[in-house]
Amino acid sequence: MCGIIGYIGGKSAVPILMSGLSRLEYRGYDSAGLATIVDGKVHNIKAKGKLSNLRALLEESPVQCTTGVGHTRWATHGAPSDLNAHPHCDCKGEISLIHNGIIENYLSIKKELETEGHTFISETDTEVLVHLIEHNYKGDIAEAVRKSLLRVEGSYAIGVVTSKEPGKIVAARLDSPLVIGLGRGENFIGSDIPAFLPYTRRVQHIQDREMVVLTDSSVEIFDLSGKKITRKVTEVHWDSAMAEKAGYRHFMLKEIYEQPRTIAETLKGRFDGDDITIEEMKLTNTDLADVNRIVITACGTAYHAGIVGKYFLEEYARIPVEMDVASEYRYRNPVLDDKTLVIAITQSGETADTLVSFRNAIAQGAKSIAITNVVGSSITRETPNLILTRAGLEIGVAATKTFTAQVTAMILLGLKIGRARGTISVEDFRMFREELHKVPALIEKILQDIEPVRTVARKYYKSRDFLFLGRSVGYPVALEGALKLKEISYIHAEGYAAGEMKHGPIALIDDMVPVVNILNHGPVFEKMLSNVKEVKARHAITIGIVNEGDESFDEYLDEIIKVPYIHPNLSPLLTTIPLQLLSYFIADKRDKDVDQPRNLAKSVTVE
Ligand code: AGP
Repeated sequence: MCGIIGYIGGKSAVPILMSGLSRLEYRGYDSAGLATIVDGKVHNIKAKGKLSNLRALLEESPVQCTTGVGHTRWATHGAPSDLNAHPHCDCKGEISLIHNGIIENYLSIKKELETEGHTFISETDTEVLVHLIEHNYKGDIAEAVRKSLLRVEGSYAIGVVTSKEPGKIVAARLDSPLVIGLGRGENFIGSDIPAFLPYTRRVQHIQDREMVVLTDSSVEIFDLSGKKITRKVTEVHWDSAMAEKAGYRHFMLKEIYEQPRTIAETLKGRFDGDDITIEEMKLTNTDLADVNRIVITACGTAYHAGIVGKYFLEEYARIPVEMDVASEYRYRNPVLDDKTLVIAITQSGETADTLVSFRNAIAQGAKSIAITNVVGSSITRETPNLILTRAGLEIGVAATKTFTAQVTAMILLGLKIGRARGTISVEDFRMFREELHKVPALIEKILQDIEPVRTVARKYYKSRDFLFLGRSVGYPVALEGALKLKEISYIHAEGYAAGEMKHGPIALIDDMVPVVNILNHGPVFEKMLSNVKEVKARHAITIGIVNEGDESFDEYLDEIIKVPYIHPNLSPLLTTIPLQLLSYFIADKRDKDVDQPRNLAKSVTVE
């Protein structure tokens, strides 16, 4: 959840660390801090709240150094405060550490260390680790870190500096992301690549239970037994402009506008005659034809993309599909075998619940596919079968372009399995190929006329509650619309399957509640018409996402937002766009921090 960065080289480290932290701030923004080596001594500086508070401190008291690590925190143990902010220090102030993750057995270690005379000043689990390193230090910081990591349980990505060996950074990971950036005469650590992207594109991915020792001219990787490891260097294709706002007021808006391109990218090169090619997936059509059940596990927005995929797979691949939120699935005892295909969907590839539930399913013999947006992320190491969504870096905490890319990936997979099983006709397959390729241009069209959405936002941004209703694939769109609104505007919003309204939620309706209805053409069109009439009869404010040229709802709708027609099974790729914009405009109008909503973090690497 937290962001970490480290620099060692010949340049002034503070500007590099601070710019890295600003690109990582989306990972957590409760507090931030730096540990640097100044004149051979450890110098820590930290501040509660956003990075701007730390920046202000640094302006007051500038720090000159060429080595340091930085941290932006999403609090787990201990409230956001100056004391709980990272870095944390040993008793003598000679070793400093930043940490992303949770040390689960920190209480027992803390007790032991306290008996030995160590004094703790924060409420964090992290502080225990730096005291443990102090306890194990016998003249070699890498060895002290290695020994200490053998004692701790939980998850970590850490960066350590010490005045005793000022020319080194020691880093390590277990179940929290860590990447190395290789420069010339300088090296970097980061919890993800954007941290150091302006300086280098040459990266090495560190794996679980590995540690790395960096100097300005060397990078050595070891496992926790101390054995040296050779790791290939990869060149990434992202450029640093992706981590900038490019003239948009917020990353979220920029990312919404990127969707025509990101969907086109996700589709690129996938159609191969009457089949789908997914180079990054090892499963063959024969393997896929052998599958008789599918389980999808994901969280949040990715879960909603999974529901769209489930409906498509059931219809065109004719396989039973179960969906579960990963945080539940990981604690169940599901029945799995080698004819079950488990699909994990995660944009970051780092969501702890998704990773663990996927790993458990693989351990029970299921076939596996991971759909992710981040090459080299943790989930890519769990399976040889990937579908990469090619949406590019997403910085806004609210997922937008990665949702539509995930839906696109699920549709491609549905088509592939349908072909492998012979359950989708060539005609339907070709029809979907054509329809999918229309999507980028149709999204462009929606984005060219956003005024109707802005008007709705202006009228209803003060509402206390919102409902979103849909049926069939409109249902996950309703869930996603509600999630977007609540996470960035803090308005209470619920998404419901429209047919469920009469079983309870309809009691919520009065003339103050805007109800957003997903009303595109499709098999459930008439049913949705009845649902809109029902809520209108209870005096709700009715807002409809309808197809261009459709007037059948006009008398029941207070507000109409039009989207072009597309095959109903692909409609989430279009109907979602105005809902993303609606939540964006409402949050902005309410003056909320759109890209960094309170209490949230971009990737949830803790349970
Ligand atoms: C969506 O806007 C969220 N911020 C969140 O629900 C997110 O989709 C979820 O945490 C899953 O993340 P992942 O795709 O990286 O696994």
